[in-house]
Amino acid sequence: CVCVCVCVALPVRSGRKTFNKLLVVSFDGFRWDYDQDADTPNLDKLAQEGVKAKYITPPMITMTSPSHFTTITGRWIEDHGVVHNLMFNATSKQMFSHKATQNRSEWWDNGVMPLWITAQNQGLKTASFHYPGGGANYSGQAVNRALVESYTHPDSNETEWRENIDIVMGWFSQEDFDFVTLYYGEPDNVGHRKGPETVERKEIIRQIDHTIGYLIEAIHKHNLTHRLNVIITSDHGMTTIKKIPEVQEIKLSNYLAFSKLVDFHLLDYGGFGMITPKQGKEEEVYNALVNAHPNLTVYRKGEIPESFHLAKNSRIQPIVVVGDLGFNMNSRFIFYVNKGDHGFHNGEMDMKTIFRAFGPDFKKNYLAEPFDSVNIYPLMCRLLGVTPAPNNGSLSFTEGMLVDSFDPAPTTPAILMSFILVATMVFCIFLM
Ligand SMILES: *[C@@H]1O[C@H](CO)[C@@H](O)[C@H](O)[C@H]1NC(C)=O
Ligand SMILES: *[C@@H]1O[C@H](CO)[C@@H](O)[C@H](O)[C@H]1NC(C)=O
Ligand SMILES: *[C@@H]1O[C@H](CO)[C@@H](O)[C@H](O)[C@H]1NC(C)=O
Ligand SMILES: *[C@@H]1O[C@H](CO)[C@@H](O)[C@H](O)[C@H]1NC(C)=O
Ligand SMILES: *[C@@H]1O[C@H](CO)[C@@H](O)[C@H](O)[C@H]1NC(C)=O
Ligand SMILES: *[C@@H]1O[C@H](CO)[C@@H](O)[C@H](O)[C@H]1NC(C)=O
Ligand SMILES: *[C@@H]1O[C@H](CO)[C@@H](O)[C@H](O)[C@H]1NC(C)=O
Ligand SMILES: [Zn+2]
Repeated sequence: CVCVCVCVALPVRSGRKTFNKLLVVSFDGFRWDYDQDADTPNLDKLAQEGVKAKYITPPMITMTSPSHFTTITGRWIEDHGVVHNLMFNATSKQMFSHKATQNRSEWWDNGVMPLWITAQNQGLKTASFHYPGGGANYSGQAVNRALVESYTHPDSNETEWRENIDIVMGWFSQEDFDFVTLYYGEPDNVGHRKGPETVERKEIIRQIDHTIGYLIEAIHKHNLTHRLNVIITSDHGMTTIKKIPEVQEIKLSNYLAFSKLVDFHLLDYGGFGMITPKQGKEEEVYNALVNAHPNLTVYRKGEIPESFHLAKNSRIQPIVVVGDLGFNMNSRFIFYVNKGDHGFHNGEMDMKTIFRAFGPDFKKNYLAEPFDSVNIYPLMCRLLGVTPAPNNGSLSFTEGMLVDSFDPAPTTPAILMSFILVATMVFCIFLM
């Protein structure tokens, strides 16, 4: 009987072990073509040794927290509910900064499970290093290990970048973590401050490329080459903000009497904005804006195009405004702080971002056609052997990236595995 137990239980346990580990690295605001005008030997080498997508399309809204959360949940923004970088309450008028939201579960935990939690519930060990949403609890569950970016965290210290890689490599090699997400705040920061078409942006891309070289070395050094898959991606692109005299900038107070008509707004935050009209003033707000400026599009919540996958969420305010590429949604003043910005329509090439992948389960020298970032989720699940939660992605866009020998048999869900194990034990006890 002991013999039967061991024989039946072994293949069940070892089924899990055939899946390799996964690291997802996100470089915030890495536009799809940033590697084309800067010297990037390591990224170029990776294209030979792994997978490169021509570009990927972030969800609409092309903003950091909403887009990162779509990647880690595989859900459209209207489903996962993280509709902005700022946490806000249109009734109390309270607002919290992007960094302040990071450990506020009530902003992130809206009934949709990010992959960390789903994977943990199926027996995997997961961690988040500064990745948006990693610091929150989901239905009371925390990510096994989560580091949240401090308010004073430097965005571009290359030494610190390398230290973070060393820490993550230690998590994989010494503590047997299965899935880690690692986030860097560049090149977004430089793209905003200096603009995407500057020497400073090319400089930070070179720094990112060095760091990717360091990552590849670190993987070898920790003997993870044959058991760690890596995805390098980002959340949105970046475009140069258009200014006078080249264009007439959009300042909404030129068309809209804020104090009379507007109760609350999320403007002055790139190309996308939301307005909460005062009671009964919705039509007045809409009419004031609908023909105000040729490069401004205004939507009533009920008329937001279905393709945005936005309107369903209660956090979306009654009026949504989107600028043409490079036209920021300014309210009463124009703050000339950002030379570059995002938030614009995800169909614009400047909003597209990167996808690279390498490791034992990925083909080499494989150029993938463009796809939506919502499809990264089922790929991650497949790589980890995790049964996905309900999601809006499809494996059909990415499965061609995997080596032909990859896991031909469908994954046995963890619950089924536990059931087989328990059933076997019960059967053995019965025999005894
Ligand atoms: C928003 O603020 C209002 C007024 O203070 C409060 O009643 C409501 O519960 C808040 N909503 C959320 C989701 O916290
Ligand atoms: C998550 O839950 C733990 C345990 O209940 C709690 O100590 C912690 O403060 C919570 N964190 C957040 C960000 O809500
Ligand atoms: C979030 O972090 C801030 C400071 O970093 C801290 O004051 C606050 O208590 C934390 N909140 C939660 C829910 O952990
Ligand atoms: C960069 O990070 C390293 C390691 O964390 C630290 O020793 C160094 O002081 C930092 N440099 C700057 C300029 O902040
Ligand atoms: C590296 O990993 C491989 C496969 O897991 C193993 O066979 C080998 O012994 C390891 N080498 C070292 C130096 O740890
Ligand atoms: C701004 O609007 C004008 C007039 O419709 C149009 O010709 C121009 O292409 C628009 N600019 C952008 C960046 O879409
Ligand atoms: C996204 O997925 C969820 C969960 O399966 C589903 O309820 C929702 O209808 C999907 N959204 C779209 C636009 O298909
Ligand atoms: Zn971002």
